[in-house]
Amino acid sequence: MALKMRYLELNRKVRDARMLAIQGIAEAGSGHPGASFSAAEIMGVLYFHKMKHRPSDPLWEERDYFINSKAHSAPGFYAVLSIAGYIDSKEIKTLRKLGSRLQGHPVRYSERQKNHSFPGIEYSGGSEGIGLSVSIGIALAKKRDGEKNRVYTLIGDGESNEGQIWEAAMAASKFRLDNLVAILDRNMIQQDGFTEEIMPLDPVRDKWAAFNWNVVEVNGHKIEQIIDALSRIEKVEDKPSIIIANTTKGKGIKHMANNPQWHGKAPPKKHVPILLEELQSEILIAPSIIAGEPENYEEKVRRAERAGADLIHLDIMDGKFVPTTSFFADTIKHLRKISSIPFDAHLMIEKPVNHVEDYIDAGCDIVTVHVEACNEMEFVEINKMLLKAGISPGIAINPGTQFPSWLIEHLDNIDVMIIMSVNPGFAGQKFIPESLDKMAGTVKILKSNNYKGFIEADGGIDATTLQQVFDAGARIMVAGNAVYGSPDINSNIIQLRHKANVAIETKLLELATINDMRSDWIKSRKNMLIPLARELGIEEDLHAIK
Ligand code: DX5
Ligand code: ZN
Repeated sequence: MALKMRYLELNRKVRDARMLAIQGIAEAGSGHPGASFSAAEIMGVLYFHKMKHRPSDPLWEERDYFINSKAHSAPGFYAVLSIAGYIDSKEIKTLRKLGSRLQGHPVRYSERQKNHSFPGIEYSGGSEGIGLSVSIGIALAKKRDGEKNRVYTLIGDGESNEGQIWEAAMAASKFRLDNLVAILDRNMIQQDGFTEEIMPLDPVRDKWAAFNWNVVEVNGHKIEQIIDALSRIEKVEDKPSIIIANTTKGKGIKHMANNPQWHGKAPPKKHVPILLEELQSEILIAPSIIAGEPENYEEKVRRAERAGADLIHLDIMDGKFVPTTSFFADTIKHLRKISSIPFDAHLMIEKPVNHVEDYIDAGCDIVTVHVEACNEMEFVEINKMLLKAGISPGIAINPGTQFPSWLIEHLDNIDVMIIMSVNPGFAGQKFIPESLDKMAGTVKILKSNNYKGFIEADGGIDATTLQQVFDAGARIMVAGNAVYGSPDINSNIIQLRHKANVAIETKLLELATINDMRSDWIKSRKNMLIPLARELGIEEDLHAIK
């Protein structure tokens, strides 16, 4: 069975995998953070959402296969497998130690070597270029036997220098292996340099197409694009497929990102708490399309997506629960066709229990209902429907509403909590400052009850209030007027992203200062911090560093 995680759950687990991987690498004092991070979403989608597999029965006959051909992403791979349930995640601390199952390069699992091999690993990697050929062997055998198993293979762009990759490319199309999917981690860096300088691979799309493969290209850090590509590929017959996943090596830790130095280097152990904080600080920007010029939602979705928005926030208003009416499920159904960007539906309607099915059918990824609009029984019913459909459930709470204690026992099944900072009904309202205390108080209750989901800020979020709600605990930022209130949507989103970066860096600097390593942190992060120096008040610190 596949684990089939919901969008926000998947997003969180991929983050957890990065956190585990970096702890393992720092503990070992060596390892490959770069490739572990560039392939984190790819491996997460495969193991948490797509592949048929059984962590309790790694050799299950009906499983899909994952061949990690590039292999350098081992720490990230181990982290994903442990989160999926193959081993206890504490074992990551044994990475690269003598006698550990977690060697620098993965070792194939076998029952005879239980203590020295890692359950779930199908292929011993490390020598580049071979895994695709192994995958062809498995895919061909399964096809000949009339079995349904699918084979997914991760290859690197540095690895693509190997001639064997191209021999395999020829063979896979000769045998019409439509049960084989290669995924190219196109991070543009190999070892200590850039691929296009060492051995140019472009035009890589044309190369694979010329070998008669079905080629799809995605942003390899967008979960929804990977999911979408994988399901489109399932319909292709008679050809193998390749997903060219455009990624950033080291993605997640800013000073490691796109820097060849971090291909195979461990961070100092003392940096780990700050790196973990950085990974947990990621901010998702969710433009609300009811704001600005009326209607023209299609254009608003497209422009926000192009400018790098993470989610689209859809405010459903029925004219009863709130004084205004916006749009309903049919509009969402239509918008679903134009983009795979996750849809974050916020239902401001009476009796949501009677309508939630429509929003499930419309293709929402997150559906949030108001505590004021349902009692516990109705909430449970809604929750069940959403979980069954694989949709992230959310709950929203108005500025004047007390946190209802009945929610506590349902926290495990709530992926997001919207804490309103205006009284819902209209975009463009003024942020209610008291909602900051409310948010901080709610976050305290949630943390003490071990809540793992996201906090979403909604209402009056702009370049000034963003940092405040971030400090109070919000990681998803709804922005209506701040995105669509003036014509240059692109600049508006860039501006919000900039403020998000300032908020994150401020927090990390504070943590570095508390941990007595301020100048050390600034030094390792120097190039990232120079453009923000004035806003962070660190011009002198930077000056002091040679
Ligand atoms: C309020 C809605 C919000 C709002 C956001 O009823 O739930 O999503 O429209 O818009 P701004 O950011 O303009 O407050
Ligand atoms: Zn909203």
